[in-house]
Amino acid sequence: MSVIIGISHSHNGSVALISDGEVKSAIQGERISRQKRKSLRFYSEMGVNSKVLKNDTKLTQDCINYCLDASGFKHSDIEVIAISTPWKCHKVTNSELFKYIGGTPKKYTKTFYVPHHYAHMEYIAHYGDLKPGIILVIDGSGSLESDRSIFNIKEKYDSKITNYTHFAGKEVVSAYWFDGFKSTLIYRFSPSISPAEDYNKDANRLNQSIGHYWRWGSSYCYGSPNEAGKVMGLAAFGKKDEIIKEKILSISDKGWIKVDYQKIREKFDKPNIFNLDLSKSKHHQNIALKIQSETEEVILKLLLMLKEKYPTDTLYFSGGVALNVVANERIKNSNLFKNVILNGSVEDNGTAIGAALAASVEQGFERKSSVIKDYYGRKYSNKEILKAVSEYSFSYKILDSKEINKIAAELIGKEKVLGWFQDGSEFGPRALGNRSILANPISPSTKHILDHYMKSRERYRPYAPVVIEELADQYFDMVGASPVMMRNVKVLDKKLKAITHFDGTARVQTVNKKENKNLYSLLFEVKKNIGYPILLNTSFNLPGEPIIESPHDALFSFSRGSLDYLFLENVLISRKKQ
Ligand SMILES: [Fe+2]
Repeated sequence: MSVIIGISHSHNGSVALISDGEVKSAIQGERISRQKRKSLRFYSEMGVNSKVLKNDTKLTQDCINYCLDASGFKHSDIEVIAISTPWKCHKVTNSELFKYIGGTPKKYTKTFYVPHHYAHMEYIAHYGDLKPGIILVIDGSGSLESDRSIFNIKEKYDSKITNYTHFAGKEVVSAYWFDGFKSTLIYRFSPSISPAEDYNKDANRLNQSIGHYWRWGSSYCYGSPNEAGKVMGLAAFGKKDEIIKEKILSISDKGWIKVDYQKIREKFDKPNIFNLDLSKSKHHQNIALKIQSETEEVILKLLLMLKEKYPTDTLYFSGGVALNVVANERIKNSNLFKNVILNGSVEDNGTAIGAALAASVEQGFERKSSVIKDYYGRKYSNKEILKAVSEYSFSYKILDSKEINKIAAELIGKEKVLGWFQDGSEFGPRALGNRSILANPISPSTKHILDHYMKSRERYRPYAPVVIEELADQYFDMVGASPVMMRNVKVLDKKLKAITHFDGTARVQTVNKKENKNLYSLLFEVKKNIGYPILLNTSFNLPGEPIIESPHDALFSFSRGSLDYLFLENVLISRKKQ
């Protein structure tokens, strides 16, 4: 059994464990550190005396141990380390590396440095049943061109490649042709990051990048670059005929992408630096719509170009921009591709999996495929759960496993809001029913309760539904599945008020028996109580916190928040003190 550890040095730092071509476990640093978007940096990246980096080392070791525990391996089993970063790539000595990962693994053979977009590409290639197709990667930015000599996994360039690579560039969009086993680079946009370039004038250190256009939009609308999801939600309120016609983001017929930062500086001078409520701000709503619609247009034009040169009915899409469910739906509805492969960890956390998979193929292991899934966390034992429960003074009841779903569904029927902790955690940014807050999707008060008392969210932001896969088309205008909440579709039933966005759509998760038996059975019980096989499903966390990981995190969050009940596997905890 080979054991390969993938490490993503990025915001959303993460570790994954791959064995014999299969993903066994993965965790983001934020889940253990409890700091949102926590990175895992090397000592050498900022100097050996930095206390912050010492903490990152400890956290990296904790993440590695978590993955080893979850998959039943020992530290000594680690043979290969694979690293991906969107920053400057730092090669380290073995002694530095072993200090960083918590000791010298007996079977260690090699470290691979994997280009960032290549790792995004390998991640999503794993989930498409090895179908040949185009793999598109779009994010903020990836590897520096000046680092190409450091990587010991190298991309192969297709002879027909469209290549806009500046020697002082940073990859921002890449596309690969995947033949079911090997990949070749068919498109790269890697513009210079130097401020001396005309196109970077007024860019304020942002790149000529679709992802950075969103960072700008997020900062302009919400005072922080990390709120792209909110900008996407806000776009639903914009009016097409009110947005300015001049293009900010564009792509030429030959595939050159441009973000016009000079125009941004001239036209937009009302940044929401105090993060005020935007529910009445037409200005910001229209900007959000502009960013959203220009992004969709540019992606579609690029895909059309690529498909003309590389005909296929399959698209794989990865990189942080692939989290944009509205754009994903537009791609699906364009009918350019019969299959659009998406998964939940397309942002930088997934590059830990991608880097390790790249190393696995490089080492000669069979390339394997997985069903689309994002549950890669460890399961907690009853003993661990009861120990955590004993540290709090809440009333609790141990349920027979057969009655868990029945009781939970009855509580949903009574409009109670539940903390739901089952099995292993989700790896990506979306709770998919294992670390979720669940609520009644038809109750008029659900959204108000969640917005005001639990999530501190703006009233105009939507919550997502989870529905039984085979019944989804009765309630949503959709064909096929959406197992990792990557699609945005029209809601057909007007009663589903708590999960319907302003524009009549919802970011749907579908679930079948194979993917999540617990949640699937719960939804059937819920149908008996409320008439719908649907739940409102939002991530289990307090405002500003990462999604919970452990029973302790769940109890801590429960103790501070306003959830009515908490299901920790088969332990039902109520707010009443003992
Ligand atoms: Fe990335």
